[in-house]
Amino acid sequence: MMLTVHATCEEELFYPAARAANVDSDLLDEAEVEHASAKDLIAQIRAMGPDDELYDAKVKVLGEYIEHHVEEEEGEMFPKCRRSAMDLAALAEQLAARKAELMADEAEMAA
Ligand SMILES: [Fe+2]
Ligand SMILES: [Fe+2]
Repeated sequence: MMLTVHATCEEELFYPAARAANVDSDLLDEAEVEHASAKDLIAQIRAMGPDDELYDAKVKVLGEYIEHHVEEEEGEMFPKCRRSAMDLAALAEQLAARKAELMADEAEMAA
């Protein structure tokens, strides 16, 4: 749930802002593809139970995807964003607000 909320916030707000500020579009493209793969795996895991075949493997591979993705964002993308004209303080507020909304939606769906 946290991963899905985080990914949606980035896709709706962070990546478009980075694109608008001309941050490396190859990196942003790669990040979007990685999000799509992770979300697909998350959907599969959410539809399964822990005793289902390949459940543990899917959780493990998801962890590996995320580790790779975070490394690239923190190591390559974010430094480029910091050097760009992006208004990171304003974006942080938008991200926090959207995250709160999505978390409330998720809580509602789980109830
Ligand atoms: Fe991401
Ligand atoms: Fe990557």
